[in-house]
Amino acid sequence: MADSFYISTPIYYINDVPHLGHAYTEVAADFFARFKRLQGFDVTFLTGTDEHGQNVLRAAEAKGMSPKEWADQVVPRWHEVWKALDISYTDFIRTTEARHEEPVQKFVQELYDRGEIYLGSYEGLYCVGCEAFKTPDELVDGKCPLHPTREIEHVKEENYFFRLSKYADRLVELWETDERSVMPEVRRNEVLGKVRQGLEDLSMSRISFDWGIPIPWDSKHVIYVWVDALLNYITAAGYASDEAKFSRLWPADVHLIGKDILWFHSVIWPAMLMALDLPLPRTVYAHGFLLVGGAKMSKSSLTGISPNDLTETFGTDGYRYYFLREVSFGQDGTFSWESMLARYNSDLANDFGNLASRVLNMIGRYLGAEVPEPPSASELDDADRRLIDSYDQALGGMEMAMEALSPTEALKAAWTFVRKANSYVEEVGPWVLAKDESQRRRLEVVLYNLAETLRLIALLTFPATPRAAQELWRRLGLDGELDRASFAVDGKWGGLAAGAKTTKGDALFPRLEDES
Ligand code: MSP
Repeated sequence: MADSFYISTPIYYINDVPHLGHAYTEVAADFFARFKRLQGFDVTFLTGTDEHGQNVLRAAEAKGMSPKEWADQVVPRWHEVWKALDISYTDFIRTTEARHEEPVQKFVQELYDRGEIYLGSYEGLYCVGCEAFKTPDELVDGKCPLHPTREIEHVKEENYFFRLSKYADRLVELWETDERSVMPEVRRNEVLGKVRQGLEDLSMSRISFDWGIPIPWDSKHVIYVWVDALLNYITAAGYASDEAKFSRLWPADVHLIGKDILWFHSVIWPAMLMALDLPLPRTVYAHGFLLVGGAKMSKSSLTGISPNDLTETFGTDGYRYYFLREVSFGQDGTFSWESMLARYNSDLANDFGNLASRVLNMIGRYLGAEVPEPPSASELDDADRRLIDSYDQALGGMEMAMEALSPTEALKAAWTFVRKANSYVEEVGPWVLAKDESQRRRLEVVLYNLAETLRLIALLTFPATPRAAQELWRRLGLDGELDRASFAVDGKWGGLAAGAKTTKGDALFPRLEDES
């Protein structure tokens, strides 16, 4: 049985509609999932919605609905957007499902039974946008810097507390000894710096509203929405419901998150797991923000552009490729229409799309749209061998980049091969060979190499541009779904069999004109 690989995204608050910021996390996670499938892993890819808490309650009240009615109405929209972006998640969890709520109660009860929770009282500041308590020094001009349009609230209530403070030393030790526990390094240093100064216990219940999962031994309280939400990573994996599944899937390999929610994932979450002696996720990876004109992109900042607005022009593949390639993974990146257009035209329309049309065209014109006999080793010259080497290096480079969890670097590696293939076409000039009957076999060798190159490009680009890759696969006369392909079986040079019928088709990425 294939090894398991378990990757998760955050679960999204449903008071917002899916925007480019959310889609950024989702597309990156999908790239990982598809790449790991090609590496032969049995991938579990979890996403979902975070449906409790004050944020959602207020959004529902504003619409005159119960929060559950509201959730049921908006959740299909999230599925729709993810489907339109070809997100290949294998599970979608909603925190209002029984499969989540019941194990959450069991988990919290177990914490209580072990003496990890006590009753206290809390007085302080709360940002409903973050669903988090804030200290005065975290505010800028009295406002939460992540939600400057919302008022900070003053809260005074009886709460249950989780003994978070006692885990500070173990967390520091974890980050100091395990470089992959929190990535990239700058984020690990960030939490290290903070936690070295000590930790306070965490208020983990709320009493002033009831939209949440009740504390099992005291139902006046609901479980703090972050404690509820973080547990999705194990409830979806079978914790307290399906032991066999849980031991197969847990610990997760990667929790992919944005840097805004690093604290919850790198401090609170592992401490909760430590308290029950459960294994910790192997890696929490916090990517940067997508910015528009310097501001974090969200609905409330009025820069919320829906993914749909962009896929209409650039297609799903163009959309995915741009965000993966243009924003250096781990850092903040600025979205602009101009850079998207430039990236699309240069990498997709020119490098990738033109190569595919030229090669398929020539096979059509010179060889009657049929893949020729593969060359023997003695038929290869230096130029051919350099092309083949370039493939090996690109695949190796992608695998290394993905070990370092960088889709951006992985795509750079893939494109070294795409560009190499373009220069090979220029170097060998098949159109010259085609004029000379004595060069017939050489022409076949060159076009075989190029057809094989396209096949391997389809494989390497599939995690980023699944539609074009699958279409190219089909145009090379190959049956089957790239979803089921693997580097081990399909990734070896020379896999394309002679006699396959090719089709030319329309441009994979039609060139776009700048209309601004
Ligand atoms: N519900 C919590 C997460 C709970 S996970 C146990 C939450 N939801 S959220 O909808 O507000 O945001 C989820 C994620 O969306 C962020 O962590 C981040 O990954 C992503 N992004 C939202 N806006 C973003 C940008 N402008 N840029 C990049 N990612 C952004 O927090």
